[in-house]
Amino acid sequence: MKIAVIGTGYVGLVTAAGLAELGHPVMGTDKDREKIGRISRGVVPIYEPGLDELIAGNVRKKRLSFSPDLNAVIQEADVIFVCVGTPQRVDGSADMSQIEEVSRMIADNLNRYKLVVEKSTVPVKTSYWIKRTIGLYKKTETDFDIASNPEFLREGSAVSDFLHPDRIIVGVETERGRDLLCDIYAKLRDRVVVTNIDTAELIKHASNSFLAMKISYINLISDICDKTDANVEQVAEGMGLDPRIGSRFLKAGIGYGGSCFPKDIKALVKIGEDLGVDMSLLKDADRVNFDRIRVFVDKIKQALWILKDKRIAILGLAFKPETDDIREAPSISIIRELLREGARLRLYDPKAMENMKEIYPEEPDRLEYCDSPYRATEEANALIILTEWEEFAGLELERVKKAMSNLIIVDGRNVFDPAVPRQLGFEYYSIGRK
Ligand code: UGA
Repeated sequence: MKIAVIGTGYVGLVTAAGLAELGHPVMGTDKDREKIGRISRGVVPIYEPGLDELIAGNVRKKRLSFSPDLNAVIQEADVIFVCVGTPQRVDGSADMSQIEEVSRMIADNLNRYKLVVEKSTVPVKTSYWIKRTIGLYKKTETDFDIASNPEFLREGSAVSDFLHPDRIIVGVETERGRDLLCDIYAKLRDRVVVTNIDTAELIKHASNSFLAMKISYINLISDICDKTDANVEQVAEGMGLDPRIGSRFLKAGIGYGGSCFPKDIKALVKIGEDLGVDMSLLKDADRVNFDRIRVFVDKIKQALWILKDKRIAILGLAFKPETDDIREAPSISIIRELLREGARLRLYDPKAMENMKEIYPEEPDRLEYCDSPYRATEEANALIILTEWEEFAGLELERVKKAMSNLIIVDGRNVFDPAVPRQLGFEYYSIGRK
């Protein structure tokens, strides 16, 4: 069984390499010829732990190849995974034009039966539209099936999530489609859950929105902790011990970012509202997340009073650790607010600085990128932590103390045990902990 993966973004690359690792012959393709050229030369365009090795290993074993010839790849494949982007439109809904383009291309190249599997995060009913589009544009009587197999990969641990999944949702409408997908995941059979297609599509959006809501919930609780003697980490631990609640995704901070939660929660609100469902619960969760920026900047002002001309070291730009991804990262809005107030910023991130330079280029005296966290803290009036990279938890605070002008830390991710910096004489502000 030959598999094609269309789209070599984050989802497509991990899917292609993961399916090859499961033992299948996989061809990756993309309309961006230049990107395919780079991947073919072994240059993986994103930073994701373990992905370079997984791709290189499977290319070497000749199970994985990349080609810019979309038509040829589609014709050769028995099963096609659609992994193209579904960016957010102004009204919050997902832009489905790339999915439509690929559907038409599949219709043009339907030379024998194929199973078309949507893997991009899409609104419920997208499969129906893919099926209708292929049906409308195909030039022969050839049969095809559609299926939904949403991905649940987390950036930073996507390879391991793919190879050791909690669940594999297989949404199908025919036995043939079900059998093909179950064969593909035969090695992970005990994780497979078979549903109809609408259900599979909704599981994905409902899961991401639920997790986003959980984060906003603990962030609200952290605001109460900030104004009382309660400690949000102990509250989360105490809550999480109840297996009905669970301890994960209860880490208070500066809010969720990334290419998924902010987009998916808005998309589900739009889907629900279009269907006449009151979606205010999710709208409020999203509003709470938006407000985290103001809450955090207020904390910085509480520590520094006037921000104009203050030299501030910012550690962490990526929306979470172990990635160079800054899409919808809270750091972007926080930097904007600090610049607006006239602060002078010195930034450091282990992986995400090149991406951030595209949004905020270096400006002498106003915004500088530093090659180490220690360089960033030199003569700083405050140190701000925006991503919980392990490197930051291991900072030599004695060295930081010598470098800084004022001993102030505002920690947006609760990286330190408050007692440690305080013992060294730092004023230490964090989230939901006095
Ligand atoms: C998320 C989901 O976790 C994946 O299951 C899903 O497949 C993926 O979206 C997707 O739809 O493609 P991801 O965006 O990579 O994965 O990152 P998460 O680990 O979920 O973190 C999202 C954001 O929430 C980050 O900004 C993180 O800092 C924040 N977060 C997470 C918290 O503030 N607190 C927490 O307790 C957990």
